[in-house]
Amino acid sequence: MLLHLLLLSLSLSLISPTHEARPYNAPATTTTTQTLHHPDHQPSIPPTLTASDRYEGSSDLVHLRYHMGPVLSSPINLYLIWYGHWPAPARSLLRDFLLSLSDSSVPSPSVHQWWSTASLYTDQTGSNITRSISIAAESLASDYSRGSSLTRLSVQQVISDQISASRLPVDHRHGVYLVLTSSDVQMQDFCRAVCGFHYFTFPSIVGHTLPYAWVGDSGKQCPEVCAYPFAVPAYMGSGVGALRPPNGEVGWDGMVSVIGHELAELSSNPLVNAWYAGEDPTAPTEIADLCEGLYGSGGGGGYIGQVARDGEGRSFNLKGRNGRRFLVQWLWSPVLKACAGPNAID
Ligand SMILES: *[C@@H]1O[C@H](CO)[C@@H](O)[C@H](O)[C@H]1NC(C)=O
Repeated sequence: MLLHLLLLSLSLSLISPTHEARPYNAPATTTTTQTLHHPDHQPSIPPTLTASDRYEGSSDLVHLRYHMGPVLSSPINLYLIWYGHWPAPARSLLRDFLLSLSDSSVPSPSVHQWWSTASLYTDQTGSNITRSISIAAESLASDYSRGSSLTRLSVQQVISDQISASRLPVDHRHGVYLVLTSSDVQMQDFCRAVCGFHYFTFPSIVGHTLPYAWVGDSGKQCPEVCAYPFAVPAYMGSGVGALRPPNGEVGWDGMVSVIGHELAELSSNPLVNAWYAGEDPTAPTEIADLCEGLYGSGGGGGYIGQVARDGEGRSFNLKGRNGRRFLVQWLWSPVLKACAGPNAID
């Protein structure tokens, strides 16, 4: 229990600035000391240390607070920017995940039910986060307009490029811009500190303040960091097997959970002044950060929790449209004061 308390409190205080999904020590430099500081990043946790830890019961330690800012309560129009080289099967997989968020016809445990945890968050008027998310437009940015190495600022220029070329509209009321970079595109701090991030665009770069998120395909650069548990770091040694991805694609299947993570946080903290834990707004711990690495009942620390397997041994915890299956991390529930997902067993 003591170890558990120590791990959780350290994790809350060490989430990196700009929050960005998964602050992470590159496995090559990971030491035992560092692993103790990052209980929510599974690959750096020796499984023997943490098998009995349960994040799910750690509610006393989490002080998630509402800071009076807006949440995304109006229906969300997603604008997808496929930056780089994106084969049709990849786009179809990620599109199916995004369209599943609002698809209530899919049987349990569904992506739609998973999003219902996010929709429990409200703003000061009592309006919940929307359950309606659609893809309004997509832009194939295969021209690498800002090169194959992006930064936190140039990714905003990528959005600006699409808008000025009239490939995407400016949608102040409902728009969320999602920049997805292919496996050959590098991003500042990718793999070393982040797997994805969300923020809002600056008027000086884009001409408007628009919520956006970036997620990269880590398949060629660092699957053991950003597509865990579909790839595991070499230092974990033999005996620790990677799980088979539900759609057979380590990089793309790995992106699904990171996209879910970013959309949940963007919706509950779009201007970084709504729902987060911790005292420091420049280092907010948001509703998906609190449950990173947790995909099923009993999970926590080094164990992802109980998830299902299909006949071919591929792991998943959620169902989506077109018969798809996905493995997506859980979200912090403000009602249960614990991590929650529709595949919970209890
Ligand atoms: C809205 O949020 C409140 C508070 O979390 C919750 O009780 C209610 O069920 C939510 N409504 C919907 C439609 O999700």
